[in-house]
Amino acid sequence: MMEMKSLLRLKPYLRPYIWFIAISAILAIPLAALRLGPAPLAKYLVNDVLVEHNSWMLTRLAIGVVLLYTANFVVRFFHFYLLRVVVARVNQKIKNDLYEHLLGLSADYFTAQSTGTLISRVGVDPTYVDAAIMSINTLVREPITFLLLFGYAMSLNWRLTVLMFIVFPPLAWVFSTTGRNLKRYIGKLSEESAHLYSVIQESFSGVRVVKTFRLEEYVRRKFYDRSNYYTHVMLKIAAMEEAAHPMVELITSFILGLMIYYGGRQVLSGEMSSGDLIAFFAAFALMINPLRVLNEVNIRLNQAAGACDRIFQIFDWKSNIPDPVSPVPLSGFHQGIEVRQISFAYPDAPQRLILKDVSFDLKIGKTVALVGASGAGKSSMVSLFPRIFDVTAGGIFLDGQNIRNVSLGDLRKIFAVVSQDVFLFNDTVEENIRCGRLGATPEEIREAARRAHALDFIEGLPDGFSTIIGDRGQKLSGGERQRLSIARAFLREAPVLILDEATSSLDTASERAVQSALDELMLNRTTLIIAHRLSTVKHADLILVMKDGEVVERGTHDELLQKSGEYAKFHHV
Ligand SMILES: Nc1ncnc2c1ncn2[C@@H]1O[C@H](COP(=O)(O)OP(=O)(O)OP(=O)(O)O)[C@@H](O)[C@H]1O
Ligand SMILES: [Mg+2]
Repeated sequence: MMEMKSLLRLKPYLRPYIWFIAISAILAIPLAALRLGPAPLAKYLVNDVLVEHNSWMLTRLAIGVVLLYTANFVVRFFHFYLLRVVVARVNQKIKNDLYEHLLGLSADYFTAQSTGTLISRVGVDPTYVDAAIMSINTLVREPITFLLLFGYAMSLNWRLTVLMFIVFPPLAWVFSTTGRNLKRYIGKLSEESAHLYSVIQESFSGVRVVKTFRLEEYVRRKFYDRSNYYTHVMLKIAAMEEAAHPMVELITSFILGLMIYYGGRQVLSGEMSSGDLIAFFAAFALMINPLRVLNEVNIRLNQAAGACDRIFQIFDWKSNIPDPVSPVPLSGFHQGIEVRQISFAYPDAPQRLILKDVSFDLKIGKTVALVGASGAGKSSMVSLFPRIFDVTAGGIFLDGQNIRNVSLGDLRKIFAVVSQDVFLFNDTVEENIRCGRLGATPEEIREAARRAHALDFIEGLPDGFSTIIGDRGQKLSGGERQRLSIARAFLREAPVLILDEATSSLDTASERAVQSALDELMLNRTTLIIAHRLSTVKHADLILVMKDGEVVERGTHDELLQKSGEYAKFHHV
């Protein structure tokens, strides 16, 4: 019963609905009794009406049928509906929790997993849990139904009932074998659906690359391969499920043959009435259904157990950037940031040091510039300040306090980051700027846009600030996107600015606009800037020249030029 352990983790989700579940389960008893109804109806129909010609009984039976199904209507509705409510609510709660948990995880999880896989975990896996919850009332209803039918069958003819038991061992074998196999394939199916989502997500979000490089055929093949495999697994499952049903029927037909033979002989010899035999067959037929349904429950529980394993595996992931247990309170930013002998390697490649023994000071009000070849480790360096990643050795100190001891909330308020690749949401211009500071008023947003030299182009858009800018801001130019992200940084009103200049060159006009926006943003602010344009670097108080993760030169623009080392070489390029 491996599956039970993973399913038990659902308990806290079900607890608030304990009454819904209880009432639904209790209703299983009358429902089971109502299910038994057709068997005695058949018995009286044959014995009293057809054989004895009792017309009074006929009326009673006709009314009885209608009453039976009226009661069935009410009981059945609540029995199922109450549990469906639980299913919907629990599904929602699991999705919400998964989403929130994933949001709280550190960035390395999102590089380790493909986005498509994570989407499928949040979107698809909880639906498997639904069936497991629905099976709670099946697990109550069907055994009761079975027992009632069994008792009734015993009361009709105990010998035939005992004979019936031959059928159970082979049935149990079929059920357990299919259940085991199905669990394996259904796990595969979920993995395949994750792959499929990854391919779809990637090819759609990279549609421009797909088109320019004529990669349609390439991504189509990837998609077809995945969907082929998915279908292959689906068909395996279909074959197993569909083979199980006629197999069950085949096994039961043997016993049915036996019963027809023995039962028929008992009727012929007058030991049993024909109505009793018909009722017995009806009860027998009704008894196969609980077995079939319970087998299905076994399968669904196995599926759900697999889904639960995957879901709770995500809940077991812990952020690699934990908030300190007792954080040191931070009241603004007063002195500066010290970087002390830091080394850094990405968590998924711990052997490869991206930064080696880097130290420098960033005093309040000053500007430090990082320059260096592509891949030198500049962007990696700035990701350490808001603790997107943690240093591997050494430390970063904010007003003398190790940033690891400050709460992430406080720490991240200190920084406004304009990163190398801008990310914009598929929402309005206004909402995208508001991301800088969620409480900002429309006036403040407008002012931020003005200072970011973005007002002109925004007002030229069809709906101004209310224009929807498309996935990742596709409806805007590169320079426009950058200015929106600069407007965000203005709005943030954070004391320290981290600027990772975009490497892609813009045309001169929009470059100038972006440049003036940046100059204004840096004014009177503590800034750490990664610059590719020397015009930006020139005025920095300290320039660090990086090479292969190390600071190879440091000084002001003039000092470095005189050294005629790496920096001077850059300058001449
Ligand atoms: N998420 C990651 N996981 C593992 N390695 C990474 C990751 N991001 C970057 N790297 C590696 O770190 C090295 C430094 O990258 P980084 O982005 O810091 O360079 P950079 O100096 O900013 O370059 P550029 O000027 O081109 O922006 C690269 O060689 C890259 O392979
Ligand atoms: Mg970079």
